[in-house]
Amino acid sequence: MLQNYQPMAKNSNLSQAKSAKNDEFYTQYADIQNEINAYIDYNPDVFRGKTILLPCDDPEWSNFTKFFAQNFERFGLKKLISTSYAVESKAVKSGYMPSLFETQSPDFDEIKTRIKGKIFTLDSDTNGNGRIDVEDLQWKYLDRDGDFLSEEVTALRDESDIIITNPPFSLFRDFLLWIIKANKKFIIIGNNNALTYKEVFPLIKNNQVWLGNGFNAGNAYFRIVSGADKYVSGVYDETSGLVKFRNCCWLTNLEHGRRHQPLQLMTMAENIKFSKHKEIKGVGYKRYDNYDAIDVPFTDAIPSDYEGVMGVPITFLDKYCPEQFDIIWRGGDMEWAEKECDFFTPPLPLKMAEYKKQDRTWRVQNPYLLCENDKVQTVYQRIFIQKKK
Ligand SMILES: C[S@@+](CC[C@H](N)C(=O)[O-])C[C@H]1O[C@@H](n2cnc3c(N)ncnc32)[C@H](O)[C@@H]1O
Repeated sequence: MLQNYQPMAKNSNLSQAKSAKNDEFYTQYADIQNEINAYIDYNPDVFRGKTILLPCDDPEWSNFTKFFAQNFERFGLKKLISTSYAVESKAVKSGYMPSLFETQSPDFDEIKTRIKGKIFTLDSDTNGNGRIDVEDLQWKYLDRDGDFLSEEVTALRDESDIIITNPPFSLFRDFLLWIIKANKKFIIIGNNNALTYKEVFPLIKNNQVWLGNGFNAGNAYFRIVSGADKYVSGVYDETSGLVKFRNCCWLTNLEHGRRHQPLQLMTMAENIKFSKHKEIKGVGYKRYDNYDAIDVPFTDAIPSDYEGVMGVPITFLDKYCPEQFDIIWRGGDMEWAEKECDFFTPPLPLKMAEYKKQDRTWRVQNPYLLCENDKVQTVYQRIFIQKKK
């Protein structure tokens, strides 16, 4: 439990703390419940007979373990496995204290508690009270520190059907690839920046991975350990002890209803007449100079009747309905632009040099607009989409 953590020593080195890779953000129970309910609503048997692995989750801290243990029977799970990462291997160790649950167990070991990961399993009514729940969790130390990449946690991955967690933010890419490699179903928390990673984006384009139901209004609030606020890069609220991130999302390859609901959109003419965005209303849509496509700076301003290619913000992915649009690719990928894209036209070398002078970060493969006086305006982070034929 969180109160087991002691505040950090006052003289701890702040700059060192800031540069440490803080992965200690704990997901709130209500957020887990809200997300998982979307899958259950869509398919009440989605977890029935399945083995679920929670690979970054010590039940002392993680609501994932509590949530799935409490719902073990309702979901019809076959087995729940939860593993934790040794405190000595964590970047932020913030006053770790083993829980009473662990110290009062005959298996408690004061060295192992710091350097070994732990495994918790649930598959039967061990206390004979007639139900399987959180009270029946069995635990032991792992042989190693619980690193998800270790052989022993990888073997647990292979044994399981579905992997669910909020993984370490700093290792998100490795974590997702670790799951994909084993071809497992998953529901995990990530961030919007990761959606355009070269390893992740093709999976999204090909409908192998998509965004989950999502956080309330796109804001995610995580609990942090007491004293770790100096390690935090998001917005920290002292009163609630929660840190807010605006760019978090759930990623999954399990079906939930929301992604099949098409966006309600206006036609191009309607947008130009009625759009709430001053950039569109009475103005219209600009064309990129280097791509034969229009720029649509807001997802809700996508014109429903436009047949050509459109560049839309990454946040579109949260509203992406595969029956409504095709994802073509992401802007800014040089290799794709040069070799595969049939609507990319680079400017002449002289122009390029001029644009580069205007804006040192300018890159030819990023979609850009030409403003008055031939000034370039790079439009970062666009995804090219087209209405489903
Ligand atoms: C973002 S936190 C989330 C914790 C928990 N899953 C939750 O949502 O409440 C990620 C957790 O992964 C742990 N972690 C960091 N590196 C890890 C690794 N290589 N293998 C397993 N866990 C790791 C961190 O110590 C941290 O507790």
